[in-house]
Amino acid sequence: MKTKILLVILCAGILFSCRPTLYIPSSTDAQKQEVLVTGRKLYVKNCSSCHNLHFPKEYNAERWAIKLDQMQPKAKISNEDKQLILQFLTSQP
Ligand code: HEC
Repeated sequence: MKTKILLVILCAGILFSCRPTLYIPSSTDAQKQEVLVTGRKLYVKNCSSCHNLHFPKEYNAERWAIKLDQMQPKAKISNEDKQLILQFLTSQP
């Protein structure tokens, strides 16, 4: 009985920790905010069809640039969209 309760608590904990959310940009610079919000939208739209979204903090800016170059043909995105996505991925405070 006790183990069952512990198990439930453990599962709930895992579920919770496995669902972090993608950060929502909140820049005070209106122009930058616009870029980041667009980048986030493009990222969610273009990069979640084949696999789960990777979190911005998983890679540094340099690695993200490489990953995006690798994923660009798969996601069929323009260079402009790639730049917007990169901005979003590398701007998390
Ligand atoms: C058409 C399917 C597809 C789309 C769309 C796609 N990916 Fe991927 N992605 C893959 C596959 C398959 C892998 C794993 C194999 C590999 O590394 O090539 C992968 C792996 C990755 C990895 C991990 C690479 C590593 O070295 O572990 C990252 C990061 C990534 N994708 C980012 C993105 C981003 C950002 C986008 C949007 C621009 C995107 N993906 C869109 C298919 C896709």
